[in-house]
Amino acid sequence: MSSRRDFIKKSAIIGTGLAMSPSLSFGASNSFKGKKVNVALIGVGLRGTNHLNNVLLREDVLVTAICDIDPRRIKIALDLIDKAGEKKPKVFGKNDLDYRNLLDLKEVDAVIISTPWLWHTKMAKDSMLAGKYTGLEVSAANTMEECWDLVNTHEQTGSHLMILENVNYRRDVLAVLNMVKQNVFGELVHFRCGYQHDLRFVKLNDGKSAYGKGVEFGEKGISESAWRTQHSLLRNADVYPTHGVGPMATMCDVNRGNRFMSLTSHASKGIGIHNYIVKHGGKDHPNAKLKFKQGDVITSTIETANGETIIVTHDCNLPRPYSLGFRVQGANGLWEKDGDRMYIEGKSEPHRWDESKEWLEKYDHPLWKKYGEHAQGAGHGGMDFFVINAFIESAKRNIAPPLDAYDAAAWSAITPLSEASIENNGEPQDFPDFTRGMWVKRKPYNWIKDTY
Ligand SMILES: NC(=O)c1ccc[n+]([C@@H]2O[C@H](COP(=O)([O-])OP(=O)(O)OC[C@H]3O[C@@H](n4cnc5c(N)ncnc54)[C@H](O)[C@@H]3O)[C@@H](O)[C@H]2O)c1
Repeated sequence: MSSRRDFIKKSAIIGTGLAMSPSLSFGASNSFKGKKVNVALIGVGLRGTNHLNNVLLREDVLVTAICDIDPRRIKIALDLIDKAGEKKPKVFGKNDLDYRNLLDLKEVDAVIISTPWLWHTKMAKDSMLAGKYTGLEVSAANTMEECWDLVNTHEQTGSHLMILENVNYRRDVLAVLNMVKQNVFGELVHFRCGYQHDLRFVKLNDGKSAYGKGVEFGEKGISESAWRTQHSLLRNADVYPTHGVGPMATMCDVNRGNRFMSLTSHASKGIGIHNYIVKHGGKDHPNAKLKFKQGDVITSTIETANGETIIVTHDCNLPRPYSLGFRVQGANGLWEKDGDRMYIEGKSEPHRWDESKEWLEKYDHPLWKKYGEHAQGAGHGGMDFFVINAFIESAKRNIAPPLDAYDAAAWSAITPLSEASIENNGEPQDFPDFTRGMWVKRKPYNWIKDTY
């Protein structure tokens, strides 16, 4: 990430017009031009720092407070803020609950939470109770009770919650969403998605650097290995469903005219983490004696009220290149990310795949057309810019975000439901109706616009 000054300079040099100006990133609607949002960040680890970098590039954000229990992360964040030429924010993190003192501040309008998963719901709940516009990293909740907590607190307080699912803003995902909304695939039938990412080197490290070789985790680990790996040790569940299911849920209007009804899940054996520990730490390393409960490949099938099926895969413990494995299929054809291919009956040569490139360019989403160049460098190929843009623009207007508390709950519920299904030999599990019947009347979100 470049500093704000570098960014502005770069924008000026490129000089390709208004879409490159950072101030325009929030100024799409004149009525909100000039309004600033006071933002606080809870958790400035790897992900929180990425969000910090993105908000520092915006003219419409003041970072008024930060919180992290790790002083090393606070120092990195303060240095970045100083380098960006911004005023020093208030700092919290004396203990695990010091974030509550941050939430007491009047000079905080919106909060971005990027902490380990077990803190997510607690912090998001407290933030909504304090009347803050709340952005929560993925996955939002770990248990069914936590899923309900998010919905109930949103409804009781009227405070908004946005699940910060950046993959919903990926360029190909938004282009395919555009195709869905323009009915190119026809009536939707089936989806595939998942989180298929070799995380062995993230779940295990040397305790000194996040991606340092080593086979430690928990108290001896650093960054995600300090907390994420515990979930693989103790839970046979899809613990990270939202990168895959979020985009698919948006395409078939889940919670807005549709909803998840039930799910079945199956888990393969789990050998990947153990093998990695033996290979890099030796068979006598204490961690080689642990039995990791999580199956290496977990496959869940969701049925929706409108009759679609969605296969969600969690595959993070074996050697493999990254892929979210998207497939979007309707009455007229389908897109498959793996293979980068598209087939539309009547347009493609019969029984032959088209390369998806031309289709995706043709249906490029208006947001990417307008801000694509601006977004480059924001992280994860640009989608991080768009998710934060949507959060800030929604917070500024204090309106419901595109990805709300009901979405956070329904998507995250896959974790406890997959766990229950796996434990019961694939027995179907019903999703609660988090909208309490409102899904029937709620209108689909208007995704096809170039503002946020
Ligand atoms: N959307 C994405 O692409 C993406 C990418 C990476 C991580 N994430 C998510 O972001 C979150 C954070 O992940 P990360 O990689 O930054 O992990 P990390 O371990 O690097 O950072 C977490 C930070 O939270 C701090 N923290 C822990 N308890 C705290 C407390 N009680 N109060 C204040 N700070 C506390 C830690 O000190 C640490 O700095 C996770 O939910 C993860 O799933 C999302």
